[in-house]
Order: sequence, then structure tokens, then C-alpha cells
Amino acid sequence: MHSFDEYRDIINSHLTDLIPDTGEEAAELAEAMKYSLEVGGKRLRPALLLASCEFAGGSIDEALPYALALEYIHTYSLIHDDLPAMDNDDLRRGKPTNHKVFGEAMAILAGDGLLSTAAEIVTGSSLGYCDNPEKMKNHIRAAHEIMSRAGASGMIAGQTADIKGEKLEPDADLIRFIELHKTADLLTAPVRAGLMLAGSDAEMLDRFTGYAKDIGVAFQILDDILDIEGDQALLGKTPGKDAEQGKCNYAFVHGLAEAKAELHRLTSEAKEALAPYGNTASFFTALADSLEIRKY
Ligand code: IPE
Ligand code: IPE
Ligand code: MG
Ligand code: MG
Ligand code: MG
Repeated sequence: MHSFDEYRDIINSHLTDLIPDTGEEAAELAEAMKYSLEVGGKRLRPALLLASCEFAGGSIDEALPYALALEYIHTYSLIHDDLPAMDNDDLRRGKPTNHKVFGEAMAILAGDGLLSTAAEIVTGSSLGYCDNPEKMKNHIRAAHEIMSRAGASGMIAGQTADIKGEKLEPDADLIRFIELHKTADLLTAPVRAGLMLAGSDAEMLDRFTGYAKDIGVAFQILDDILDIEGDQALLGKTPGKDAEQGKCNYAFVHGLAEAKAELHRLTSEAKEALAPYGNTASFFTALADSLEIRKY
């Protein structure tokens, strides 16, 4: 196992390796795709994928394409999330949003490009194991895990409920659906896919799924808290937008104190799920703790 910073450095050093050649006529597409990738980001999802794969005995080399695909999907989700028709944000990762730099049409296309590149990467990677059916099965399972959690029953369902929710009186069930899908699905996918690549056993998959869902929901609750209390210079995005747009923010329904209590409860529950692994799972338990106190 490596440290979080080491995983992040591996991701950053290969970040745009798998962006396809778009041809000279479409050079701006590759530029717009790379802009949002390179402008910043915590690399939480790809680091989780590399760490989960290594934890279950797999290798970084095998996992890296999937980790990059995940970061491409996450980055596309942010580009589209920021569009005027969605959350209408000007600032992301401390820099102007993709549509502010390249225009709306290019931002839509850059998102499309990142999503379809991710599908190309994960299917292409599985194909590379045709001569090893057992490994190929692990790779196809991981590919399906990533694409389905990114899809219409996963992150997109959450984003839909988030947008529809602007016109609704927020309630606890709707908020939990939004958190589970718009955010926790893209944090669960890397953990499960990483384990699947390494052929982990069912119990490990189950326990880590519980962990990932908990840190995923907790991550969105803190995102909601930071939208109210956060500092723009640290966040790299504009706080106060949720109230302005009538978003279903956890703290609007439950209050800030309860939001912080729930964040703490979920963090403890996430760590508890991994208790049978003791110190061997310290990467994941320490990460849960650091995510609880993050400021960006
Ligand atoms: C932001 O995710 C979107 C949410 C799910 C709240 P991150 O906070 O992980 O964004 P980056 O990748 O660090 O920019
Ligand atoms: C975004 O949720 C989740 C996805 C992009 C899938 P938010 O809209 O709350 O994220 P921020 O606050 O803009 O980063
Ligand atoms: Mg949004
Ligand atoms: Mg947003
Ligand atoms: Mg938010």
C-alpha cells in the first residue's frame, strides 16, 4: 500500500495519458478536456481505486486505467454540473469553469468526450485480458461497476433528483437519495471496482461497499456544510450557491448541528465496517478521518 499523496502523484503523472488524439480539426476538444483535468482536484476517487486494488492484492499497473477513467467521469460530471442550465457556476478547482473558458458548446462536448473516453478505456482494458478468462471476468465486472454507477441508475439519477429538487420542499428521503446517487455512487464505484480487479472475496466487497457508501454520503453532507460555512479561497468554488438556487442541502432540512453530527456518525460507521481488517485497513480509516475535517 502507498500513502494518499503517493497515489495522487501517480494519478497526476499519468492524468492525460489516455486522452485520445482528437485530430487537428477538433484540437480544442482535447484542450477543453485536459483543462478541467489539469486545473486541480483532490483525486480522491482514483486514489481510492488504486488503494482498494492494492489492498486486495492487485497491482497499480492493472488498476491505473480504471482510476484514470474514474477521474475522467468525475471531471465530466463537474463540467456539466457547472453549466448554466445546471448549477451555473463560474469557479471550479480554483479556476474559471470550463464553459467560462471554452463556451457552453465546448464544455458540453468536453464532458461528452471525457465520459466516452472512460467507456473506451475500461472496455479496451478488459479486452487486453482475452487470453486469461478469469482476469478478463474481473476486468469486465470492474468496467460494469464503474459505468453503471456513473449512469442513469447512479450518478445521473442523483443529479436529476438534485435538479428536480430545486422546485420541491426538501425532505429527508429526497436528500438521502440525492447524496447516495449524485455523490456516493462515484465514491463506491472506485472502491468496488478496485477490489473486483483484484478478485476480492464477497465479504471484503460487502464490508468495503458499506465503508464507501458511508464516506460517500458523509462527503456530500460536508460539501453541503462547506457551501454554507466554507471559504471560497480554500474551496476553489463559490459558496452560498445552494441557498441561492433552492438546492436540497442536508443542513437546510436538518440544521448545521445535526449535519455535523451525521457526518461524524457516518465516519465512525464507515471505519467500523472495516474493523475486522484492523491496522491493515488503516489507509481507509485514516482517509475517513481526514475527509471529516477537510476544508475543501
Ligand atoms: C466535488 O467533488 C463534487 C461533489 C461530489 C461534492 P470533489 O470535492 O472531490 O472535487 P475535486 O475533484 O476535488 O475538484
Ligand atoms: C455535484 O454536487 C455532484 C456531481 C457533480 C455529480 P454539487 O453540485 O453539490 O457539487 P459542487 O458543490 O458544485 O461541487
Ligand atoms: Mg449540482
Ligand atoms: Mg454544483
Ligand atoms: Mg455542493
